[in-house]
Amino acid sequence: MSNIEQTLSIIKPDAVERNLENEIKEMFKNNGFSILKEKKIQIEKSEAEKFYKVHETKPFYNDLCEYLSSGPIVVMVLEKENAVLGNRELMGATNPKDAEAGTIRNKYGISIDKNSVHGSDSIDNANKEIDFFFKN
Ligand code: CMP
Repeated sequence: MSNIEQTLSIIKPDAVERNLENEIKEMFKNNGFSILKEKKIQIEKSEAEKFYKVHETKPFYNDLCEYLSSGPIVVMVLEKENAVLGNRELMGATNPKDAEAGTIRNKYGISIDKNSVHGSDSIDNANKEIDFFFKN
């Protein structure tokens, strides 16, 4: 049975700053993802704090929110069969130094903070994160 899902992807400030937006989008398309919606925006720190609320007790929370709001980002809704897991596989491990060859973070990530992309980690969070950026 087919299981078409949507997931949220963010191209983070480190990648936008290095003009990697098109290369990363090509990787999504070459891996069968359709980009249903996309926009380039810069968010306030207070919005980043809401977006990453699940991490609010973590020691890296403040730096993470500073960072996500530090420059333009590209937010996208990606769709394909099993998109949530597929996107996580294509991104690779959170820390680029642990990410497998051929993954986005292995190719482009600089550090655990500047890891070039974010992707939803579950279907439930995908729905919440898509609403966060694209609900009218
Ligand atoms: P992301 O997938 O956007 O989700 C939360 C982000 O926190 C993660 O990518 C990393 O960029 C960042 N981060 C910083 N330090 C850590 C850490 N120790 N463990 C997990 N994520 C971290």
